[in-house]
Amino acid sequence: MRILLLVHSFNSLSQSVYTQLRSRGHEVTVEFDINHKVLDETISSYTPDLILAPFLKRAIPDHIWRRIPCFIIHPGIPGDRGPSALDWAILNNEKSWGVTILQADAEMDAGPIWAACEFKMRPATKSSLYKNEVTEAALEAVNLALDRFESGTFTPLIQQPDNQEIKGISRPEIKQADRRINWFADDTETIARKIRSADGMPGVKTRLLGQSLYLFDAHADYSRTGNPGDVIAKSGAAICIATIDGAIWIGHVTIKNSRHPFKLPATHALSQSLTHLTEIPEERNRTYREISYDEQGEVGFLRFNFYNGAMSKAQCHSLKNAYEKAASRPTKIIILLGGEDFWSNGMHLNLIEAAPSAADESWENINAIDDVTESIIRTESHLTIAALNGNAGAGGVFLARATDYVWLRQGIILNPHYKDMGNLYGSEFWTYLLPRYAGVENAARISKARLPMGADEAVSLGLADECFNTGRKDFLTTVRCRAEAMAASPEFDRLLQQKTQTRTSEEAKKPLSSYRKEELKKMRQNFYGFDPSYHIARYNFVYKVPKSRTPLTIARHRNAHSHNQGEAAQ
Ligand code: COA
Repeated sequence: MRILLLVHSFNSLSQSVYTQLRSRGHEVTVEFDINHKVLDETISSYTPDLILAPFLKRAIPDHIWRRIPCFIIHPGIPGDRGPSALDWAILNNEKSWGVTILQADAEMDAGPIWAACEFKMRPATKSSLYKNEVTEAALEAVNLALDRFESGTFTPLIQQPDNQEIKGISRPEIKQADRRINWFADDTETIARKIRSADGMPGVKTRLLGQSLYLFDAHADYSRTGNPGDVIAKSGAAICIATIDGAIWIGHVTIKNSRHPFKLPATHALSQSLTHLTEIPEERNRTYREISYDEQGEVGFLRFNFYNGAMSKAQCHSLKNAYEKAASRPTKIIILLGGEDFWSNGMHLNLIEAAPSAADESWENINAIDDVTESIIRTESHLTIAALNGNAGAGGVFLARATDYVWLRQGIILNPHYKDMGNLYGSEFWTYLLPRYAGVENAARISKARLPMGADEAVSLGLADECFNTGRKDFLTTVRCRAEAMAASPEFDRLLQQKTQTRTSEEAKKPLSSYRKEELKKMRQNFYGFDPSYHIARYNFVYKVPKSRTPLTIARHRNAHSHNQGEAAQ
């Protein structure tokens, strides 16, 4: 089918739907919901069989859904209506929730139902549920709905109140008042749930240390106490606030009326107000710990659970230390597990934006990531594996590719390109790693296409080595079993020796330092040069400035040339 994805922005769910539809042989293009006249023109020229809307913020105009079938992906159970579906589900402590595919109709979210899938709720943030359970259910529901649509024989379910299958109700847009924290009445679990329901956006507004701010990244800690609402400790990025039955760590905050009114590590944003508190070293903090290491037999597991996958220079320094410590252990394999929701998204763009000199901060940040990457590439003592249970973007993808084996969970999305960030050239040794593993032709194709990529495609292009269809929960167990078998294999010594030999011969052909120097020369231009594109793109990204047109890489109907190339890449 010819499918037009109509989206508010090309978010993770839209990217997943896009890659799934293409891998199932559909012809797909994307239009941002910015201007109805542009949309009309697109429909006239592209003549889609179906419009699919994974993420919209307003209704599709009458004249469009009357002309072409429009399917909406709603992150709620059948009958649920309103713009805050998942927020309410978390706040109301629903045990299970769902995704429904509705056909657009006169009333928002009230059209006929083509498919619905349920999932079990998990005590996780809204954005984590959205990226995982909602996305999985949505992909399944889209498949069902499209099969039914194509069959031409299916009659969708009309939403009538007396229908037993319609369990949801209409709910208004959620307000700050609906999740306001009462520090003297709410227990820790309630506070955590309120914050999770608003994390990634918009956060829960509260007053702390005499100022108004928005809270994110909450972790309950029942081992500490204090006066409810008081900040009682700090550790790494996080501050600890006492509750009536314990305490809660907050990793990130936004202070709207400040010089940097975007999400930042709490201790960074509030540094002036925290001088009276003594720092709890992260390794002694059992609740809020970004980097952790454990071993099972001959395999070491290194986690770096950085919020939103963003890696600042300080986080990179800590990660390098932790990695080198792991590499000094008498184990055989090191597995880099990344974080829970993202494996890594490269440099920390928010901290760069907040720095006195964004150019200097970018420079130091990219050098710090390169140091980690180089350390991994140069490892001779161990085989290394990147195990991606969450998505990765930009430098994060190439940091993963620096290991000997990249293992992916089926369903994750990679964005192996930098150029969308104001033509950023990129570093992390990508000019060495990409051709080495993907071949020269694929390397050129990947960097040119600037498209999200599913796990199967990444494996077929050599960007990853294997993909496990385990589901999120069982991924780690599979990774552990596979790694233990690899460590115990009689082949292990040969593999390690072969890796060292390959590295030595490649170093002789062209030293790693040359790749690094060449990449950083280009990055220096991006940071300090005449062209301000990177600084503008980063500002727009951090401040979430809406896009004013659909990027040509995904608006394939506008660009016959890129369209053909994209098809060839499949
Ligand atoms: N630095 C800081 N924050 C980052 C980040 C980074 N490198 N990458 C992602 N984030 C944040 C986003 O701002 C967003 O924040 P929110 O919780 O306040 O909404 C959150 O992580 C999720 O990102 P989002 O863009 O909504 O996710 P997505 O799945 O739609 O897209 C990417 C994923 C990777 C394509 C996109 O986040 C991206 O382009 N990131 C920047 C990558 C980059 O250029 N890194 C620097 C070069 S190494």
